[in-house]
Amino acid sequence: MPDIAWVNGRFVSLTEAVVSIEDRGFQFGDGVYEVVRTYKGRPFELEAHLARLERSARALELSQPYSRAQWTQHVGEGIARAAFQESKIYIQLTRGVAPRDHAYPEAATPTAVMTVRELHPLAFSARAAGVEAMTVEDIRWGRCDIKSVNLLGNVLARQQAKEAGKFETILVKDGFVTEGAVSNVMIVRAGTVFTAPEGPRILSGVTRAVVLDLARKEGLPVEERAVSSEELYRADEVFLTGTTVEVLAVVRVDSRVIGNGRPGPITQRLAARFLSRVG
Ligand code: PDD
Repeated sequence: MPDIAWVNGRFVSLTEAVVSIEDRGFQFGDGVYEVVRTYKGRPFELEAHLARLERSARALELSQPYSRAQWTQHVGEGIARAAFQESKIYIQLTRGVAPRDHAYPEAATPTAVMTVRELHPLAFSARAAGVEAMTVEDIRWGRCDIKSVNLLGNVLARQQAKEAGKFETILVKDGFVTEGAVSNVMIVRAGTVFTAPEGPRILSGVTRAVVLDLARKEGLPVEERAVSSEELYRADEVFLTGTTVEVLAVVRVDSRVIGNGRPGPITQRLAARFLSRVG
């Protein structure tokens, strides 16, 4: 099955899916997005993703061309047409096409696009062994809670990880961990799960919320508070959460081995709970 594209309400082949060069998403990165995945063919936490899409759009005063029910229908149809075993759905909404001027155009219709691609899960061996991460300075803007298509800070960070042969980059601002380039970061210390609080410095991950809920249900103490890079290095366990990474152990950060260099017991427990939650 080919990948599927959808532009402003119409399904088209990926090669025919085009947007004007005057689109403000292209000119200014003036848009927002979501990435959703399926489990057993059903979109996971779609309501939460659509709620975040609405929140991001509202923060940019971007009008929503589709209701949640309409998005749900489009996503469902895309998944059905693509007929992959598992899909990764990308939704993007921009302020639309207008002559280039930084301030909002008087009248522009938002551009909405979606792609449905085959999801290739992370190799089981990587999941079992854990991954390596490196820290870099978080140079992004002051509203990382908005899932904006302006991703240069994340792009540069991710490239550094790729060049260093690391799986993920952990971003650090003023000595404190914010999040990963494409994930949220959690640490475990003496049985407590710590992660950066919601706020302008992080994207409030849909997976983050699910995992924190699972942790609380497991009776694990959870503290949403700033975690310093020193605490990160000295943590018993470190793990990432996100739509693409799910719950993924980090066994080395920079030159420091985390715990005994293998996925820790709490990470494994939460990864297992997450798997049963999605299955
Ligand atoms: N990224 N933080 C950042 C910066 C992210 O880009 C993501 C997800 C997350 C995790 O959010 P969630 O659990 O809702 O997926 C946290 C997506 C997958 C992406 O940009 O491809």
